[in-house]
Amino acid sequence: KTPIIIDTDPGIDDAVALSIALNHPKLDVLLLTTVAGNVNVNKTTENTLKLVSFFGKTVPVAKGCDKPLLIQLEDSAEIHGESGMDGFDFPAITEKTLAIHAVEAMKNCILNSPEPVTLVPIAALTNIALLVSMYPETKQNIKEIVMMGGSLSRGNTHTSAEFNTYVDPHAAQIVFQSDIPIVMVGLDVTSTAVLTKNEVEQIKEFGKVGNMFYSLFQHYRGGSLQTGLKMHDVCAIAYLTNPELFTVQKTFVEIALEGPAAGATVADLKMKYHNTTNAEVCLDIDIPAFQKWVVSNLESI
Ligand code: BDR
Ligand code: CA
Repeated sequence: KTPIIIDTDPGIDDAVALSIALNHPKLDVLLLTTVAGNVNVNKTTENTLKLVSFFGKTVPVAKGCDKPLLIQLEDSAEIHGESGMDGFDFPAITEKTLAIHAVEAMKNCILNSPEPVTLVPIAALTNIALLVSMYPETKQNIKEIVMMGGSLSRGNTHTSAEFNTYVDPHAAQIVFQSDIPIVMVGLDVTSTAVLTKNEVEQIKEFGKVGNMFYSLFQHYRGGSLQTGLKMHDVCAIAYLTNPELFTVQKTFVEIALEGPAAGATVADLKMKYHNTTNAEVCLDIDIPAFQKWVVSNLESI
């Protein structure tokens, strides 16, 4: 099993990602940490606890940063709803958060792990940037960062910036300069990784889990049932268990910090301006195989 920490801001696509990760036989979720992003951090933390409780898991949850490092939070409630996970009435929460901050919890978890840990941020990189800045000794026991964020072409929040890197570009820059191996699962693959009506109708039949997702999907404005629901964060989990679904390339990624491109991930794909690389970026995904992967994983929960 691959030991992982997921840093998240649920978020309806986060909810699918967490549900699959928490129940996947190849993954060992050591810790869930939360951050402000799609909605404020109190809500993303509550949503994470709702999901952990729903699945009867006891994975520790730690609450993280309530705002980006230097700029104001711009949330994404118009996509995920006011609560961040609108559309389903979850049963009462049975789990509590740890008494320590997410960054402390990550540090402890990484330093205590007998095996190197993979970090899986599917939200703004604020917590991860603080972790590598405050506790650089953790880098030795971080295997890699597999993140959902960034784009090699256009953005979804501003012309060229994807939401997670747009929310906290300074954090993204710290992480991309950290020398930790990074796999960037960006919009280039995640915007095409959709669930269509066909998959959603199958998922609906999967008992209590199917009913939960079917309800959330009615409120998710990350696409439509006609064009498909974008499963951004779910792609990062699919990469962990089935990297063969993705085409990747090593390159150097810079982060734009200011102006209309702030938050853009600018990749030197032809390596004209750099002679070292700092990330592997996803260029393509096998969409039918991904769709099957999502459906079969939700079915087997
Ligand atoms: C990313 O932004 C968030 O709204 C989603 O949860 C995902 O992490 C996609 O750009
Ligand atoms: Ca997210």
